[in-house]
Amino acid sequence: MFQALHHPPAYRQTKLPNHCIAKKRRVKNNARRDIIIAVDGPAGAGKSTVTKLVAKKLRFLYIDTGALYRALTLKAKRLNLNLKNKKVITALIKKTDIKLIYNKNLLKVKLDNYDVTKEIRKLYITDGVSEVAKIKEVRQIMTELQRKLAKNNNSILEGRDIGTVVFPNANFKFYLDADFRERVRRRFKELKEKNKNIKTKLVKNNLSTRDKMDSTRKIAPLKMAKDAIYIDTTDLSIKEVVDRILSWIRI
Ligand code: DC
Repeated sequence: MFQALHHPPAYRQTKLPNHCIAKKRRVKNNARRDIIIAVDGPAGAGKSTVTKLVAKKLRFLYIDTGALYRALTLKAKRLNLNLKNKKVITALIKKTDIKLIYNKNLLKVKLDNYDVTKEIRKLYITDGVSEVAKIKEVRQIMTELQRKLAKNNNSILEGRDIGTVVFPNANFKFYLDADFRERVRRRFKELKEKNKNIKTKLVKNNLSTRDKMDSTRKIAPLKMAKDAIYIDTTDLSIKEVVDRILSWIRI
């Protein structure tokens, strides 16, 4: 069913740890379980770009979990709600419909049936999203939604808590990281394409605030799962990271 994968010699592993061999585990009724790949790490580590490419190569469903938190943040912002008000934001998520739609490899994010794919990437959303993402009830609903999205699909999910909370039994877990300066450089480059006036300082502040909030929150903080494979992407090209991930996958 799956094509043989390319394993570049430089990254070929002589012996894979047991957890790295995908087990198409059989559940009670003998149905095959879907394969889950978890990709976690801080902003700017290259998760989105790399995860999309791996998904394409493996023909897996790509699930951008950050987009879900971003869409909810957008709705709260549009309604001028206080992002710190847990009750209000929890009530809001219960009457919000967020969909990830796939069209010829392009992912569209729909919020209450409106396309918000571009809007959720703007800095004013990025600035508020970690506040929304730390609310326990929001995370519970988002976690359920992510599990539902991956149900009946071989999926690769990127986020902060995929390997630790959403899918602790994922077949493969990766943790992508990079030096802070490199992450700022990448994010700045990306944002500059959309907004010529963007300042490095703004991007730097946003990344360090988010790093801190995402990794110190009480519920499902950003951290590497014990059984994840750590990849420092600082000096690697996109292709090198993709190849390195693929070199670990056995299907
Ligand atoms: O990956 P991203 O930058 O689009 O994510 C935006 C924010 O959403 C991130 O700063 C923290 C939050 N998030 C999260 O808490 N858990 C996830 N699984 C994904 C994202």
